[in-house]
Amino acid sequence: MSSEIFEKVISHCKEYGFVFPSSDIYGGLAAVYDYGQNGVELRNNLRQYWWKSMTQVNQNIVGIEAAIFMHPKTWKASGHIDGFNDPMIDNKDSKKRYRADVLLEDHQEKIRQKIEKEIDKAAKRFGETFDAALYRETNPRVVEYQQKIDSIDQRMKGGLESGDLASIKSLIEEEGIVCPISGSKNWTDVRQFNLMYSTQMSAIENGEDQLYLRPETAQGIFVNFLNVQKTGRMKLPFGIAQTGKAFRNEIVARQFIMRMKEFEQMEMQFFVKPGTELGWYESWKKQRLQWHMALGINPSHYRYHDHVKLAHYANAAVDIEYQFPFGFKEVEGIHSRTDFDLGRHEEFSGKKLRYFDPETNESYIPYVVETSIGLDRLFLLALCEAYQEESVDGDTRVLLKLHPAVAPVKAAILPLVKKDGLPELAESIYNQLRLDYNVYIEDKDSIGKRYRRMDAIGTPFCITVDHDSLTQGDVTVRDRDTMEQTRVKIEDLKNLLDSRVSMSTLLKQIIPS
Ligand code: GAP
Repeated sequence: MSSEIFEKVISHCKEYGFVFPSSDIYGGLAAVYDYGQNGVELRNNLRQYWWKSMTQVNQNIVGIEAAIFMHPKTWKASGHIDGFNDPMIDNKDSKKRYRADVLLEDHQEKIRQKIEKEIDKAAKRFGETFDAALYRETNPRVVEYQQKIDSIDQRMKGGLESGDLASIKSLIEEEGIVCPISGSKNWTDVRQFNLMYSTQMSAIENGEDQLYLRPETAQGIFVNFLNVQKTGRMKLPFGIAQTGKAFRNEIVARQFIMRMKEFEQMEMQFFVKPGTELGWYESWKKQRLQWHMALGINPSHYRYHDHVKLAHYANAAVDIEYQFPFGFKEVEGIHSRTDFDLGRHEEFSGKKLRYFDPETNESYIPYVVETSIGLDRLFLLALCEAYQEESVDGDTRVLLKLHPAVAPVKAAILPLVKKDGLPELAESIYNQLRLDYNVYIEDKDSIGKRYRRMDAIGTPFCITVDHDSLTQGDVTVRDRDTMEQTRVKIEDLKNLLDSRVSMSTLLKQIIPS
């Protein structure tokens, strides 16, 4: 998908009530967005898919909802106060601030695009016999580009991990990276900025009154580990899931809802016996990708990105990346976090956070495997994947080929004309379906225009009520993707929706048979 299509996805979001800039009438607020009438339904459905697949499908995973405000010691213990920083660099001419690692990643992406261009050209030249993998490994220019990407990667990670920010600045300068606004290479030094938003609450203890808006939901789970384990009499291995808002002072507003200041995470911490964590890590890595695929996403649009250099508390970590129009980017992280978080909370709170293992009669701090996905990134992924333009009878049909179970509206009921009792029959069908599904009556404009509007918001079925419906008790059901029309008895409509658009049709795909 080209960046031109990405621009179309963004305008589509606004035109069809999916996403609006926050406080739009005041000119918006950078990196903050509101969800409109269709966006909120899609987002709720995606969240519900995640929630049910965690808590309803798995007997040993339960959910919680912790508060956004947490005791400030939480963030000292988790390491966020001291270490949750982004390396920032300013351009002295444009006065714009950038994340130094993002500047370098964008630069790498440009080199990657050159590789893809070389490969496309060669594929055209050599025709069917072309072996892209071999060409990648042997063509001198492609190899040189790849080495360049790898060397930037290595130097960037080395500099960030050792805290050698001067080396990051040198790398930016050596690569000749210019400010996208001013076009100049007039950079300041790279400095660390903490990403947490702080606010005040009347004194908590020892004069501490500074609070933070949580930058991740995970800590709300860790501090409740024992509450849930004891009250739910949970036995290892077990998981605690949570969805909710998180806040990060992301300086770089770009790529629409990809990187927001206020966003939602869906996180699950899976507590396991020490020594078994890497097996669970592999299992969750596989399960999470299958979960994504069940949404009908093209498998070639996903890849795993294993973390080579690990955070000090992790013994394995991987990102699930999706091929957005602007390149492969992280959507979800799976991290084997050892006993770091519970251990630190034990240390800072002075409360034991141990599990008594009835099989071995030992008490220990469990190890944790985390799965963490951003709901807004998933939303963007779903839209990028679903947005399609098709030529139909010399016209362009824009449709969202969303998985029916997450589509905002499941079926539109369309009386052919606004008279002869058709609106009344449409109303009665609506009443039969509305308690189970988000259905909608649409009676304005020609039937063709109504079909197009429903295609554009991804409605899987249009149910047309015509004069025959009055006498024969059936309606025409049009399929969004194939545009095929079939006659269906009114009393069978609920069964049709149950079998094609219900959440269980989606959940069935992730349950091992
Ligand atoms: N508890 C682990 C954690 O928070 P993370 O990689 O920082 O890990 C997890 O975040 C996920 O949250 C990411 O994979 C991404 O989908 C989402 N995310 C992180 N920052 C975001 C932002 N500023 N805007 C939107 N989504 C974000």
